[in-house]
Amino acid sequence: SSSSLSPPSSSTPPLSTHFIGRKEDIVKAGRVTKLVNGCRDVLVLHHDGQLYAMDMRCYHAGGALEHGDIEEFNGRLCIVCPWHKYKITLAEGEGLYQAVDNPTVKPLRTYWRSKGVKQRIHKVTEVNGDVYVTLNDLSEAIESDNYQTEKYRSVFLKG
Ligand code: FES
Repeated sequence: SSSSLSPPSSSTPPLSTHFIGRKEDIVKAGRVTKLVNGCRDVLVLHHDGQLYAMDMRCYHAGGALEHGDIEEFNGRLCIVCPWHKYKITLAEGEGLYQAVDNPTVKPLRTYWRSKGVKQRIHKVTEVNGDVYVTLNDLSEAIESDNYQTEKYRSVFLKG
């Protein structure tokens, strides 16, 4: 009989999720960085009522995304890496850049293009004011993975 089993509680997050902090604290801080599951440095940020999570170091050269500005480009919210101003969409982790329409036509006309997903984005869930991250376990390599090794972790921790 299954009568002794208690029904799943809606306040219990799935096992694969990792506690980040209280939502009110994250909202107040705006950004929080955390080593998740002992293996991944993640940035969780709050912008315009939404929570986002992504690898903490920029896919280009490991820049500290927690210090990046949030701006909209081509109607898409991006974090702008403080190191070389690469633009990364918050929701998908796509690298955006401005391409020139036709270099022989002046004035130059530019338009936004995507390099595809470059930054690993993680899933954020909220249960009763607690914020959790589920690591994105897509096995396909994403460029920001390069900056998730022990080497970068210790380098950056030493400052
Ligand atoms: Fe982020 Fe270069 S490290 S733009």
